[in-house]
Amino acid sequence: MGNHGTQKPAEQEEAGGRRRVLTFLSAFGLIGSAVLSAFSNFVFIKPRATYGQPSRFHVGKPDDFPSGTKLALEDRRICLVRDGDQFAAVSTTCTHLGCIVSPSDTGYSCPCHGSRYDQDGNVTGGPAPKPLAWYKVSLAPNGELEVDKDQEIKPGTYFNV
Ligand code: FES
Repeated sequence: MGNHGTQKPAEQEEAGGRRRVLTFLSAFGLIGSAVLSAFSNFVFIKPRATYGQPSRFHVGKPDDFPSGTKLALEDRRICLVRDGDQFAAVSTTCTHLGCIVSPSDTGYSCPCHGSRYDQDGNVTGGPAPKPLAWYKVSLAPNGELEVDKDQEIKPGTYFNV
């Protein structure tokens, strides 16, 4: 159906212009999709791993916590305890199946299957197989208390300020 022969020069020019636009658009689309796929490959390849919370962290100055404090820091999964001038960081991860225990009047209790612990984290009831862990507490150079969850210490070992 070639009617090029019958086309007037203006029409031929218009057709050429359209062709150039189409060529440009298809090249643009091709390059665009190449860039997009390179980008999505990069996003896909990039590791998405999160490495959790740092195991050593500051919780605040000793004076921020009056004696008698028993403060559960849920995101850190510890309970910060102050008794006089002594501090402790007791794990709030239940030793049964890992639920978060809450401080209670007699120690700690787990809402999942009813394990109970005394003030030092010793098991007093329920299915928990072992006591709650205690973590090392120290004073950082900036005067804040530092808890190191990589260092488990003997339960009942307080840090004196
Ligand atoms: S997880 Fe705490 S009692 Fe089961």
